[in-house]
Amino acid sequence: MSFELKFLPSGQSFQIQQGSEPEGGIGQPGSLLDLALGLGIDIDHACGGVSACSTCHVVVLEGLSSCNEASDSEEDQLDKAPGLTPQSRLACQCIPSGKQNLLVQIPSWNRNLVREGS
Ligand code: FES
Repeated sequence: MSFELKFLPSGQSFQIQQGSEPEGGIGQPGSLLDLALGLGIDIDHACGGVSACSTCHVVVLEGLSSCNEASDSEEDQLDKAPGLTPQSRLACQCIPSGKQNLLVQIPSWNRNLVREGS
């Protein structure tokens, strides 16, 4: 089984094969952060993927219902995230089941280009 993982605003899209997911080695195994880093997509992760910051905040525009529920500690960190939306998640804690394709918006403050330019 596989699903499509697409990132905005770059529009880069990847087919994720379950059982041989890319691994960035940071965040929960199989989380959006783990997958993204394994795919060469940079998402900020100041705390190292342990739900102790909110820099890995992403917005799951499509496929959110196929992801795990946010834990209390994730909710607590998200409350501190700028630009919070009902579809916001911490990329290091959000694990898609693969039952739906995912469309993930990386907020501008999390993008490398923005960070390097500041
Ligand atoms: S990297 Fe810190 S909460 Fe995800």
